[in-house]
Amino acid sequence: GRVAVLMGGTSAEREVSLESGRNVLEALRARGIDAHAVDGIPALVQALVDKRFDRVFNILHGNKGGGEDGVLQGLCEALGVPLTGSGVLGTALAMDKIRTKQVWLSLGLPTPRYVRLARGDTAAVRAAARELGLPVIVKPACEGSSVGVSRVFDEAGLDAAVELAARYPGELLMEQLVVGGEYTVGVLGDLALPSIRIVPAGEYYDYHAKYQAEDTQYLCPGLQGGDEDAIRALALAAFRAAGCSGWGRVDVMRDAAGNNYLLEVNTAPGMTSHSLVPKAARELGISFEELCWRVLETSLP
Ligand code: DAL
Ligand code: MG
Repeated sequence: GRVAVLMGGTSAEREVSLESGRNVLEALRARGIDAHAVDGIPALVQALVDKRFDRVFNILHGNKGGGEDGVLQGLCEALGVPLTGSGVLGTALAMDKIRTKQVWLSLGLPTPRYVRLARGDTAAVRAAARELGLPVIVKPACEGSSVGVSRVFDEAGLDAAVELAARYPGELLMEQLVVGGEYTVGVLGDLALPSIRIVPAGEYYDYHAKYQAEDTQYLCPGLQGGDEDAIRALALAAFRAAGCSGWGRVDVMRDAAGNNYLLEVNTAPGMTSHSLVPKAARELGISFEELCWRVLETSLP
């Protein structure tokens, strides 16, 4: 059948999604699949009403015009069109970092301490920083690719961090900054892929280090022996706890004492040349083409 590769859209991650989408499209076509690019949800709706596609490969990142917040998933479900990845509940929950953390905490899964910030309440921002203890990280609750995220090391930096995060829609959160290593674990079906340890050349794995820098280092597997088994098992448990299925990626911080802290789940993780799930798959001998094929299979009932 014909496959729509849904990409682009209007979220803050539009450019990232277009690069992911072009790569996926090329890989599916190399496998002989009749795949076509569709830019954004309104164009997809029209194409589905016209019955031009039999299934959707979702690589539209982000919320509000992106494909990771449950809106697309509900639409496809209502129309009876199979879609890759998690369903309505998993995508809607995973897009919201605050509520994902609440679910994890309720199940005893580890995640950094946090405070939800009310917009415009500066006194509360200071109180939150004192409660958590500096350094902290301030982020929009519903964005990806580190957009709107700042690390704050002293009180003087708080206002600018909150102001930046507030440029994006939805709620804001302040989180305790875990000092240590940054890890990520891809999930493909029932399998947790080898972890990746991310070592940015600068201080921080931000948008630049994610997509533009050529000096970010990726170590895969990120850990050895029991530590590696534990981080993979934790990621899989966190993914399932968030109601996610099919494929995705769980981001984790690890402190110097070896404690893991869950950050978030990405339900349409990047597939750019710099992205992480393709690197982890390769470590298992799964090529990019094979990975795209397996992700497409997650749309099968
Ligand atoms: N949000 C970006 C695309 C990622 O998680 O890879
Ligand atoms: Mg993310």
